[in-house]
Amino acid sequence: MREQVVELAREFAREKIEPYAAEWDRTHHFARDVIAELGKLGFMGMCTPEEYDGMGLDTVTYLMALEEISAADAAIAVSIGIHNAIPTTMLVKHGTPEQRERWLKPMARGELLAGFALSEAEAGSDAASLHAQAVRDGKDWVLNGAKAWATNAGTADLMMIMVRTDTPDARRGAKGISTFIVPTDTKGYTPAKPEDKMGLRASNTAGIELSDLRLPAAHMLGDEGMGFVYAMEGLDAGRLGIGAQGVGIARKALELSLEYCAERKQFETPLHDFQAVQFKLADMATRIEAARALAHRAAARKDAGEDISLYASMTKLFASETAMWVTTQAIQLFGGYGYMRDFPVEKLFRDAKVTEIYEGTSEIQRVVIARHLTR
Ligand code: CAA
Repeated sequence: MREQVVELAREFAREKIEPYAAEWDRTHHFARDVIAELGKLGFMGMCTPEEYDGMGLDTVTYLMALEEISAADAAIAVSIGIHNAIPTTMLVKHGTPEQRERWLKPMARGELLAGFALSEAEAGSDAASLHAQAVRDGKDWVLNGAKAWATNAGTADLMMIMVRTDTPDARRGAKGISTFIVPTDTKGYTPAKPEDKMGLRASNTAGIELSDLRLPAAHMLGDEGMGFVYAMEGLDAGRLGIGAQGVGIARKALELSLEYCAERKQFETPLHDFQAVQFKLADMATRIEAARALAHRAAARKDAGEDISLYASMTKLFASETAMWVTTQAIQLFGGYGYMRDFPVEKLFRDAKVTEIYEGTSEIQRVVIARHLTR
């Protein structure tokens, strides 16, 4: 099963994503039709249990499939990676039977695209300091506030949104946050203009204005006050996906560098015959292999039911810094050509950068790792 799924992801990525990725990047095109096709093949419910219409894959297979898609276009990978990891994990772990029937199943079938909104303009790394507020009104909740930098905010059918449910006179910090399942066609949900980003330009990233957005109480996920914990659990799964994304970006940069260094001659010698070049290629390949091994080991721990918070942070930290380092080396190997938009390595370099920032910066991953080591 693993080989077939990964082969299918690889073929799809090579035929239906890679040839178009540069154009989508240039034009900020969100390839909804491609995501819909991936959904029909099961890639929007990769780890969702079969009873909820998912593929029920193990996490290693999921990461391998995501690596294939990331190698073709990291923008598509993040659009589907967020959906597969964060909202899906939240609903599988904490959804009621009705919520799973109504949202998780169509998400797994690829009929609904989902995203996740935690950050705000003033609450990035310090996510628990967020301000958006929900107030109880009879049987409903009314949400107001503004979220920032949410993947799929302007393209999703459904967003998992973290807001405060404590009161201004009795703030409870991380314990005062709850998660709401918000269909994006609800009155009061307004996505901002998509951000004009350095990389992942074909993915949708936007703020969200929540303006007297009224939801029945059945749209709250799990228990009131547990939204921050659910977000952190979702991010543990998400950070493994970003690890696979980093590996995919870096692997593509290495593959392109190997081809280029075989063809390109200087001083009548192919570049790959220079030892300085060989050492660079050797270091690139070794770091990629190490990042992949770390990700797969963390995934195996997840499947064994272990707490993976430490390993998810290690994976994201190492794989994202690997992606940034490897793509920097690739540009250097390509020289002047590497700096030009006509060659694909500069896109990989731009796409790599955000892996060190979103779903928790490298600094936050080091905080999480150090807390585990010293507690
Ligand atoms: N799993 C389960 N529970 C967890 C947890 C985890 N991984 N991490 C923390 N918690 C729990 C803690 O146990 C604690 O509960 P108790 O008090 O009952 O023990 C509660 O959550 C609060 O935890 P902390 O005291 O550790 O919280 P903190 O305020 O110190 O924050 C942090 C910790 C690691 C810095 C966290 O705020 C963090 O990860 N920040 C980065 C946020 C982030 O990744 N943002 C990215 C948003 S998504 C995005 O980028 C957009 C996109 O669409 C891609």
